[in-house]
Amino acid sequence: MARIIAVANQKGGVGKTTTAVNLAAAIAMWGHKVLLVDADPQGNATSGVGIQRGSFRKSLYHSLALDEPVGSITLPTSIPTLSVVPANKDLAGAEIELVDVVQREFRLRRSLEAVESGYEYLIIDCPPSLGLLTLNALTAAKSLLVPIQCEYYALEGVTELFDTLARIRRLHNPGLMIEGLLLTMYDVRSNLSAAVAADLRDFYGLQVFQTVIPRNVRLAEAPSYGKPIISYDANSKGAEAYSQLAREIVYESKSTGSRSGGSTVVGHDG
Ligand SMILES: Nc1ncnc2c1ncn2[C@@H]1O[C@H](COP(=O)(O)OP(=O)(O)OP(=O)(O)O)[C@@H](O)[C@H]1O
Ligand SMILES: [Mg+2]
Repeated sequence: MARIIAVANQKGGVGKTTTAVNLAAAIAMWGHKVLLVDADPQGNATSGVGIQRGSFRKSLYHSLALDEPVGSITLPTSIPTLSVVPANKDLAGAEIELVDVVQREFRLRRSLEAVESGYEYLIIDCPPSLGLLTLNALTAAKSLLVPIQCEYYALEGVTELFDTLARIRRLHNPGLMIEGLLLTMYDVRSNLSAAVAADLRDFYGLQVFQTVIPRNVRLAEAPSYGKPIISYDANSKGAEAYSQLAREIVYESKSTGSRSGGSTVVGHDG
């Protein structure tokens, strides 16, 4: 059975897509079969793995709204064990078209069930809202990964996200676990980053990943080349950090109880 991880936070620009793309790539680089599912009409995860806008006709929209098999939509990437279900702005239409459909929160789960056995990991990149696409992702997922940007007001919205998580568990997906909360864009020179990290660990303890993603210019550059960081600059701090996150997820899953708290900050490159 594949591990299905939804990367969600309704706050915009906190590092969801950067995390989904680079975590998926890091795991795939070790030879595991990974499917990256772009559930955001912005299509940033799609372009982040080198699939250009306009180069594909069918997207996740076709599966969610028109019942086309995910297998017929899935595209290969430059990493042999990494495939992607692409998205573009069509997907915004699915939110509207599905409003009156019964079991509308289960569409993605149903779509992915048909391909799940072909992969070890499915990683779903969510849009910055708690709308139907995110609800579909949380219903399809086995766990939730929440990127949290190290900035003022970072924790704002996390309570609301956890309320949604509780509702999804109650109504649709009782087994949904928390994969972890991930500190992103950490600036070692900033007292604010340290304060946010300390607050988060006080509040959420072992639910916070040990790995912290530093602010790293190479991570911001990589998408414009359509490459995950591991392909763009494998020696960067960003690549190191996402490989470390992948290690935590693949080898030290919280279900094994081995994540021990305390932070491991990969250095900062200024
Ligand atoms: N660790 C990092 N260091 C530097 N830049 C980063 C880092 N993580 C993300 N970024 C940049 O910050 C911006 C927002 O990141 P990203 O697109 O991953 O966030 P998001 O949560 O997916 O946004 P949205 O809510 O719009 O989907 C992007 O330009 C990205 O390249
Ligand atoms: Mg995004």
